[in-house]
Amino acid sequence: MLPLLIKDILALPPQSQEVKVSGWVRTKRDMKNLVFVEVNDGSCFAGIQCTFDRAGGLNSFAEKALEALATGASVEVTGKLVSSPASGQSVEVSASELRLLGEAPADDRSGKYPGLDVKAYPLQKKRHSLEFLREIAHLRPRTNTFGAVTRIRSRMSFAIHRYFIQNGFHYIHTPIITSGDAEGAGALFQVTTLEPEAAVKNILPGGGIDHSKDFFGRKTFLTVSGQLEAETYALAMSRVYTFGPTFRAENSNTVRHLAEFWMIEPEVAFAALEDNMFLAEDFLKYIFNAALEECADELEFFDAHVEKGIIETLKQVVNAKFAHITYTDAIKELEKTSAVFEFKPSWGCDLQSEHEKYLTEKVAGGPVIVTDYPKEIKAFYMKLNNDNKTVRAMDVLVPRLGEIIGGSQREDNLEKLYLRMVEMGMKPDEYSWYLDLRRYGSVVHSGFGLGFERLIQYITGMANIRDVIPFPRAVGQANF
Ligand code: 4AD
Ligand code: MG
Repeated sequence: MLPLLIKDILALPPQSQEVKVSGWVRTKRDMKNLVFVEVNDGSCFAGIQCTFDRAGGLNSFAEKALEALATGASVEVTGKLVSSPASGQSVEVSASELRLLGEAPADDRSGKYPGLDVKAYPLQKKRHSLEFLREIAHLRPRTNTFGAVTRIRSRMSFAIHRYFIQNGFHYIHTPIITSGDAEGAGALFQVTTLEPEAAVKNILPGGGIDHSKDFFGRKTFLTVSGQLEAETYALAMSRVYTFGPTFRAENSNTVRHLAEFWMIEPEVAFAALEDNMFLAEDFLKYIFNAALEECADELEFFDAHVEKGIIETLKQVVNAKFAHITYTDAIKELEKTSAVFEFKPSWGCDLQSEHEKYLTEKVAGGPVIVTDYPKEIKAFYMKLNNDNKTVRAMDVLVPRLGEIIGGSQREDNLEKLYLRMVEMGMKPDEYSWYLDLRRYGSVVHSGFGLGFERLIQYITGMANIRDVIPFPRAVGQANF
């Protein structure tokens, strides 16, 4: 049997039954005969208070353990569950036994061998800065903030799977190593087993490295998106989605970009852009609602300590009708306002976050879906409109964050897709498998990508994306 979790102990009636609490010490308060130890095990926000009464006959073993115990130590406390006189908790443990499993000293201790010193436990009761916690990312899940982020990530993952499975989607595992650039943006990490020296030896007559000697016999990369592979399954299984890691070697050192992030990509056959917009809105509302219902304690914490009003914003999004605006109309709005932008907006330019912010906060007053972008600033696979200038793209923008979802209707016409690839300097030969979907039984189909960390940022109000993923990978950062 597994040991009881604190969240389950806290829900028990205080009928003086004996319980065993396992966890890590958050605080110890010594008041003469009484010692209060708060233990947390990450299962819920609250810890449980364990009260030791020195006058009440603690055995000498427990007495000694109690002396050595400090913040960060791992313990096992046995005692009776009783109703608590303290405010903010209904039960506490009247402790009779204590096992100190692993010490966490509050002072520096030198070790027997070089490199074996034990520095004082770095997480003390005071508030630590998020920057400092990023340097000790292996210990930060022991803080309230990261415990809460972790529980929200986990529950939202489950809610996402639940939404899709309940709506007839199949979960597809797309490859992490790919040979193509799905987004055509060139921000790829290469995967190779050629040592730099071997690569130098394997130069082709016309220059360039001969990847036929490489592990896969060709040039390969970490995937930037599972979309192209998901499309192949959508055109057989009708509704599919992926949920996996994606990698981008973009040199964007911002609070919204990671080099390794998780993306959710649904792909639906027999669905045009309008259906895709409906799906994106319905899906986001379902997830935000799940956060409100299933993570109420965590959201209250984020609302109080991280971003005021977060619960209200989420409720507003759940109840809002998402606005729709074409890119062309969005540019008109941006051009006619007297608001000052760092980047002057004009037709053909990509929307900057300041523009996205203006569109959601000032024009739409809530979430807005921008559609029909110029083809030049979007990926090759998007369906061309009759104007030959714009494509059936859609970006979902939300207040505070900007782009949370990017998607499109896909080009399902073989010739048009081929010509677009040639126009963009791609080699259609290399995507012959992808073109086959248009050769054989092609159908109207659409999909989108939701950045999982952007979603968690939005739900928690955490300002920096590096604080909503356990071990962030970004430009110049791949510790742990
Ligand atoms: O807009 P993007 O690049 O779209 C695609 O990759 C399509 N293949 C999706 C599809 O149609 N199936 O990325 C989708 C989303 C963005 O809206 C954003 O939320 C997130 O992925 N995203 C990132 N999140 C963190 N760090 C980055 N560097 C990100 N780049 C994109
Ligand atoms: Mg995008």
